[in-house]
Amino acid sequence: MSSPHNAAEIGDIAETILLPGDPLRAKHIAENFLTDAVQYTSIRNNFGFTGKYKGNPISVQSTGMGIPSMCIYAHELIETYGVRKLFRVGTCGAMHADVKVRDVLLAQGATTDSSIIRNIFGASINFAPLANFDLLSSAVKNAARLNIPAKVGNIVTVDRFYDEEIDQAKLVKYGVLAVEMETAGLYTTAAEFGAKALSVLTVSDSFVTHEVLSAEEREKNFNDMIELALETAIES
Ligand code: HPA
Repeated sequence: MSSPHNAAEIGDIAETILLPGDPLRAKHIAENFLTDAVQYTSIRNNFGFTGKYKGNPISVQSTGMGIPSMCIYAHELIETYGVRKLFRVGTCGAMHADVKVRDVLLAQGATTDSSIIRNIFGASINFAPLANFDLLSSAVKNAARLNIPAKVGNIVTVDRFYDEEIDQAKLVKYGVLAVEMETAGLYTTAAEFGAKALSVLTVSDSFVTHEVLSAEEREKNFNDMIELALETAIES
């Protein structure tokens, strides 16, 4: 048996998974960080692999961009394949002046303009999508041990990359650090099923300085983020 968007058989996917948006990043992680990696899906060119990191079974699955795509993959991974720990590994844009390109961010919470919260809870509840505390506290300790400077806080998950209406000043005033497009969907889906989730992000561009990381720098920072996610994945 497989699921509508995944060709894996039950048992092909590990309980712990890394979720990049980009299929080529999934391939990069499988080839450079995992041993004995086997590809289990390429439906829609979203690639999934299972291998080992330091002897522990780990999968990596690309999810595409945006909340709807993330929610499809997270839902099926948890419900059909029994995945219990999910780490988004991706990029975000800095909004707050304290956040610089190259920083690693651990998303404690994900504010969102998406209708998913309203669709699930109705108008009277503004559900707060949160990181799992065990994964978050373990990632904070691992970042210190690995000498990877990591900031922890609220981010905003937006539905539009090209969003002229976004009120950056207000979000920053309320402590929101950065913007991306998937974490609120991941945290809300994990909450629905009682699974654990954490977004580990690197800052690829800045709304404050208008800097954008080059492809080489992005790769170096990407590798730090993957190491942090994997070290956290095998211990928590
Ligand atoms: N906006 C939305 N999502 C993003 C950005 C951004 O600037 N950078 C990386 N993901």
